[in-house]
Amino acid sequence: MSLRLGDEAPDFSAATTDGDIDFHDWKSGSWAVLFSHPADYTPVCTTELGRTAQLSDDFAQRGVKCIAVSVDPLADHLGWAGDIGDVGGTDLNFPIIADPDRDVSTKYDMIHPGEGDTSTVRSVFIIDPDNKVRLTMTYPKSVGRNFTEILRAVDALQLTDAAPVSTPVDWEVGERVIVSPAMSTADAKDRFGEVEEVKPYLRWTAQPSA
Ligand code: BEZ
Repeated sequence: MSLRLGDEAPDFSAATTDGDIDFHDWKSGSWAVLFSHPADYTPVCTTELGRTAQLSDDFAQRGVKCIAVSVDPLADHLGWAGDIGDVGGTDLNFPIIADPDRDVSTKYDMIHPGEGDTSTVRSVFIIDPDNKVRLTMTYPKSVGRNFTEILRAVDALQLTDAAPVSTPVDWEVGERVIVSPAMSTADAKDRFGEVEEVKPYLRWTAQPSA
C-alpha cells in the first residue's frame, strides 16, 4: 500500500531490540521518525544508525521517538547493535524492528522491486502525535540520509503547526519565515508585528517564538 501525507500511519505489532511493541501504543502521542534499512551488517546503515544514536538528545528535545526497521531477524539486530555503538561512539538507544515477514515494510511500502531485491530502500516517515504521516523521504540503498535534515524538517513541521507561517528554501531555525497566504497582511502585522511585503503573496516575518 502506498502511503500519502495526511494518511494514518499504519499500526503494527513487532519484535524489536527493545522488546515486543504495538507501534501506536509505543509511540503514545509523541512524534516519531520511522526509518528503514536495507540489511544488517552493512556499512551505510551502520553509520546512519550510529548517527541517530548520537542525536538522541536532539530528537528527545523535540518530543520525537526514533525507530528503525530492517527485514533481518532479531538475533542479527542484537548482534549488529554492538557494531553500531563501536562505529558511532554511542550505544544504540532506540529500537530496531525485526521484520523478517516484511509486515511493516509492506504496510509502509518500503520495498521497491525496481531497486534490486526484497530488502527495503531507505524510507523515512515523520509521524505526528495524532499518528498522521507528515513528511516522507525515500533514498536508494547506496545513498545515506542526512539526519540533520530530518531534525530540520521536524523543526519546520512543529513551527508551521504552531503558527500560520511556512518555511522558505533552505530555512534554518531562527531565520525569517513566510506569512501564510491565508492571512491578510493587516492580520499578520497584528499577530507578528513587523511584516515585509515583497510581493502580495510573499510576506516575511521573524520566526515566531514557540
Ligand atoms: C549499506 O548499508 O551500505 C548498503 C546496504 C544495502 C545495499 C547497499 C548498501
